[in-house]
Amino acid sequence: MSSISSTTVSPQASSAPAAQITVLDTGGQYTHLIARKVRELGVFADVQPSETPAELLRNRKGVIISGGPCSVYEAGSPDIDPALLRNGPPVLGICYGHQLIAHHLGGAVEKGERGEYGIAQLKLTADDFLWKNVAPSQQIWMSHRDSVAQPPPGFAIIASTETSGVAAMSDSTRKIYGLQFHPEVVHTPAGKDILSNFLFGVCGAKRDWDVSQRVPLIEEQIRKIAGDRSIFFFVSGGVDSTVAYTLCLRALGPERVYGMYVDTGLMRLEETEFVQTIFERLGAAHFHVEHADTEFLTVLAGLHEPEQKRRAIGEQFVKVQERILQTGHFLDGHWILGQGTIYPDTIESGGTAKADLIKTHHNRVAGIQALIDNNRIIEPLTSFYKDEVREIGGEIGVPQEFLARHPFPGPGLAIRCLCSSRGAPLVESADGWILPVRSVGVQGDSRSYRHVLAIEATPTSNMIRKEAPALTNRRRDINRVVALAGAQSALRSMKLFEAYLTRERLDILREADAIVRRFASETGIEQSVWQFPVVLLPIGTTSARESIVLRPIDSIDGMTAEAVLIEPAHLECLTNQLLQIPGICAVFYDVTNKPPGTIEWE
Ligand code: XMP
Repeated sequence: MSSISSTTVSPQASSAPAAQITVLDTGGQYTHLIARKVRELGVFADVQPSETPAELLRNRKGVIISGGPCSVYEAGSPDIDPALLRNGPPVLGICYGHQLIAHHLGGAVEKGERGEYGIAQLKLTADDFLWKNVAPSQQIWMSHRDSVAQPPPGFAIIASTETSGVAAMSDSTRKIYGLQFHPEVVHTPAGKDILSNFLFGVCGAKRDWDVSQRVPLIEEQIRKIAGDRSIFFFVSGGVDSTVAYTLCLRALGPERVYGMYVDTGLMRLEETEFVQTIFERLGAAHFHVEHADTEFLTVLAGLHEPEQKRRAIGEQFVKVQERILQTGHFLDGHWILGQGTIYPDTIESGGTAKADLIKTHHNRVAGIQALIDNNRIIEPLTSFYKDEVREIGGEIGVPQEFLARHPFPGPGLAIRCLCSSRGAPLVESADGWILPVRSVGVQGDSRSYRHVLAIEATPTSNMIRKEAPALTNRRRDINRVVALAGAQSALRSMKLFEAYLTRERLDILREADAIVRRFASETGIEQSVWQFPVVLLPIGTTSARESIVLRPIDSIDGMTAEAVLIEPAHLECLTNQLLQIPGICAVFYDVTNKPPGTIEWE
């Protein structure tokens, strides 16, 4: 082991300035979005747990308390240090944060039965710092059950909606503000002005954040941490590890940066060649591909349960990585490990620990853990959000075609190729046909693993908006609904076959996925969706045993997602192409939002 120690590039130690604004996380799905919006306004913001002691926030220019799914009356619901509201920096509470302020300072929070979700009209009822450049009547976006019935003493009501008497409140003497609505989402067009008024008008924040100007500082930091050592990367072909790698390449030169790409055999068509070409174009001198497809397929043989498959892939990955680390002598003191960890990863693994385990991710390997424990790791992107990583990538010459790629899961096509240990018929019900496969879902904050309902009709927006939610709410046996885009046979004559992960099945999926990707790129659908998984089901007839599921979704960060409809003429054309693949019997279209269905099926 090396006696030289270095530090991980933490937000503070690295190229990032000290945070002027802290967003306190009360478990809401928009917490990171708030921090991103603040950064977009040119002010560096970080995210911290809601209970962070006020003492540690003393030097911030301002604090924003996020929204969250809880009620201030629930036992164990996220709280803040009450001292934050006494002589602290200016505070802005959003949604749950707004209710927390009211609750702590002697206002009244009313428990809601029905809640208010979606677009509402905001009427400003008093002048305020927050309302500079904001029209007296405004569209805003609400998502809440409880509401503030009475502001605390000293607060003025500064805006209301038809159903929320206290849609916004302020105490301009103490500089504490509350908004029931969400200024961070696009459906609140004046949100950016409101946040800007808080940052610059109330908090007196200074513009200190421009991602493109960070590049020289990041490179300087990499040189400092590396010293005279070289950097070793496991690159995945994803945006984060590629941008991190390229930064190191620029900082240290090609001779001192080594990239290893493991081909698991679970990649898309021509993926390995594509990644290789990109790295060559980036100027990599030491980029190596480890062909490990046969060993991955061997350990996956005979498995069908999603978490078993994930575990087998994770464990095999560990073995391959350990082997590479040993044979390449990368554990010698001369090397440190580079990783593409980005800001949200550091928060999640830092263990806010509120989220139930929905799906296992496999990122930590013992050898890598040892390197981390010995501080022999360099993570140049830990301060940045995905959009910011893309911006940096553009700045340092990573090709746009690469930066614009949709996210792709680590376990690759394995979790898009469903397996079954048994044959079974499809079962007719009053609502459609139950497909005897099961897929993963997320309901509340927990995992579900249930059957799929297939409706024998082409997808419509009404299915996405009304039918599928009603069905998944009502029926306990399903968490997902698909429509039938096209088939060689009627559902009545199809069945589930016993099937596992084989090269043949993966080849069928690869071909279908390549067709969908080409089509999505040519029609521009690629740009209008966030991700477009293609899934293989062992469902069909004896002469064509497989079906394809199309899963185009829109999302902000993958935490929630909406099923997206593509034009009927496009869908028909795509379906016909897919039905030409030998062995394909039907094409289904997933009309399920997340929740209740996850983006991936496993
Ligand atoms: P789900 O299916 O949980 O996916 O709605 C949310 C996002 O995460 C990706 N995903 C993964 N990424 N390893 C990864 O690196 C995984 O095991 C994994 N599972 C899901 C998924 O593609 C989507 O973008």
